[in-house]
Amino acid sequence: MLNLKHVIDARQFDPAMMEEIFFSADLLAKGKGRYQRKTLREQRMAILFYQPSLRTRFSHSLAAKLLGACVVESENAREFSSAAKGESLEDTIQVLGRMFDLIVLRHYEAGAAKRAADLEIVPIINAGDGPGHHPTQALLDVWTIKKALGTINGLRIAMVGDLLNGRTVRSLCYLLGKYKDVEIVFVSPLQTAMKQDVKDYLTEKGVRFSETESLESLLPSKVDVIYQTRIQKEWFADQPEVYERILGCYIINRPFMDQLGQGVSIMHPLPRVGEITPDIDNDPRAIYFQQAENGLYIRMALMKILLHV
Ligand code: CP
Repeated sequence: MLNLKHVIDARQFDPAMMEEIFFSADLLAKGKGRYQRKTLREQRMAILFYQPSLRTRFSHSLAAKLLGACVVESENAREFSSAAKGESLEDTIQVLGRMFDLIVLRHYEAGAAKRAADLEIVPIINAGDGPGHHPTQALLDVWTIKKALGTINGLRIAMVGDLLNGRTVRSLCYLLGKYKDVEIVFVSPLQTAMKQDVKDYLTEKGVRFSETESLESLLPSKVDVIYQTRIQKEWFADQPEVYERILGCYIINRPFMDQLGQGVSIMHPLPRVGEITPDIDNDPRAIYFQQAENGLYIRMALMKILLHV
């Protein structure tokens, strides 16, 4: 079985490792969670979230419970753990690491999960750290693309929206950089363009990419996947006028889908706040809800691998 100590940064995975995770997730999905259930019966899991979440928190929690683990969670650790009294993340991990076998951590600071992992007390799953990384999301994204299109190699993938603050798109770029002949089109206003460090990484990996402000330039069928993202209001607290200006600049709706062409998958890490209209939810090209469901099985697979069961 794959030897994995922590899940911190998508760059730690290569295609062979991903295949192993996808194989396990596939078996778990086929049994809708019943396959190898309760294999974590002896394990204790802390789910520690300092930032809001629906999908990542519920899917980790459900994954652990389906596998039989004993789960204790905080959905607002910033307010309801001793962080509110000034306790450091390091001390929190030192304490919980002695009680639990695995900690799933979402934190508002980039690098927080790595700091927790560097203590080497307990396996850490990074469930999103500030604008840094979201590796479990990237794994479920790649698995979703593979399930929909059969391969990653040779695909043309557009990433749209808030590429500056979006940890999902950053982590997805890190994984796509591991495949062959992938091409990425970044679609964003200048204010939320992809950061240079990711572009440097893609260049180093030989991944072709281009940048445009035009969503319409993807029409018709210029890409295989459109990965839409939300303009993240929470990162524009001191620039509300910028947020208002760019909000709603890219909306995938029925008229857009009518011009898009067949065979182009629409993905979104969710939540959405208007950038994909619900009238396309039943379009077979819209796979964002399957994408969210896939997260359950990827997270079950990761827990089994990290805990060697
Ligand atoms: N995709 C994602 O991370 O969603 P949540 O913030 O709801 O977990």
